[in-house]
Amino acid sequence: MKQYNIAVIPGDGIGKELAPEGVRVLNAAAEACGFKLAYEYFPWGCEYYTEYNEMMPENGLEILRPFDAIYFGAVGYPELVPDDVSLHGLLIKIRLGFDQYICLRPTTLLPGVPTPLAGKKPGDINFITVRENTEGEYAGAGGRMHPGQPMELAVETSVFTRAGVERVIRYAFELARSRPRKLLSHATKSNAQKHTLTFWDQIFDEVATEYPDVKTERVLVDAMAARFVLKPESLDVVVASNLFGDILTDIGGAITGSLGLSASGNIDPERRYPSMFEPVHGSAPDIYGKGIANPIAMAWSGAMMLDFLGEKRAGALIEKAISAVTAEGKRLTPDLGGTATTTQVADALIEKLRELAADQ
Ligand code: NAI
Ligand code: MG
Repeated sequence: MKQYNIAVIPGDGIGKELAPEGVRVLNAAAEACGFKLAYEYFPWGCEYYTEYNEMMPENGLEILRPFDAIYFGAVGYPELVPDDVSLHGLLIKIRLGFDQYICLRPTTLLPGVPTPLAGKKPGDINFITVRENTEGEYAGAGGRMHPGQPMELAVETSVFTRAGVERVIRYAFELARSRPRKLLSHATKSNAQKHTLTFWDQIFDEVATEYPDVKTERVLVDAMAARFVLKPESLDVVVASNLFGDILTDIGGAITGSLGLSASGNIDPERRYPSMFEPVHGSAPDIYGKGIANPIAMAWSGAMMLDFLGEKRAGALIEKAISAVTAEGKRLTPDLGGTATTTQVADALIEKLRELAADQ
């Protein structure tokens, strides 16, 4: 029987509650589809930091490297460790260390989930954002000078490389080509940022000549933010730089009902390193320990992981089970207006998944 080795990093807060529930859902999918998942858990995060003064061991990347994929909960415990330290010491270290240059974030309105947008129904909102994940505005290039002096100064420079821009845009074209609508919209701001984003536009147009079957459009990022809200049905695949993609996908999460539903994958398409799958949300200290965090984003991220590993049927089964649970509307966590616990929703997902598998 085919086996995949998964490194599980629950992390902090609700990540610790959600990772084991996600694993249960993954196991049900594996069982239904005839493959095996073997897990190893790593207790890295803010509590680990208080003991070892680092978020993960020095050789953490070496430890993770042999795994087929990484299943990540969330990081952040601001009372113990400042957020910039915890995020950079774990999540960003893995994303950069494994050159996971694609961040994939689906925006899908599920049946039974209310959207804050008037008049939109499931099917109207169903697009995916490809966010550049290793450079751009988050490259970390810059510094501070004259601390505490009147002329104190901070500089943060965006870094766009030809290789970095080309690879994310090419990935987005391939993805658009694989979808029925074959539409790729790119977010830019080249009217104002005349060095980096004109470069981005230029490379986009160059790569576009290789994909005559894909329809394209250039949209300024402020107009794109409005499009996410006013006409999400007009979007299919969106490609954006690191900062723009980060902000836009939060709008994507907001219009689809709850942060507890938004999944993501940090992907190395060349498969040189393990890719990492995680919900978009953070560690939610405000609800941690109550057992009411929504496990759907975690389960959906797991579905993306199985899909990436080549287990398409298993990934699709989890996604269908998610839709079935939200459509039924009986077992939902409080963020979706229900009264169910994390475990009860995971149970519901597993039950639906088994029913769907038996029907096929
Ligand atoms: P957050 O995403 O943790 O929470 C924002 C709001 O959404 C909270 O009201 C929370 O209760 C709710 N929420 C989030 N996930 C939910 C779920 N699964 N079910 C139900 N409700 C859910 O963002 P916040 O509060 O800004 O940050 C908390 C910590 O998480 C910080 O330390 C931050 O740095 C970290 N963080 C980590 C991320 C990651 O690991 N990828 C991403 C975002 C934040
Ligand atoms: Mg964000």
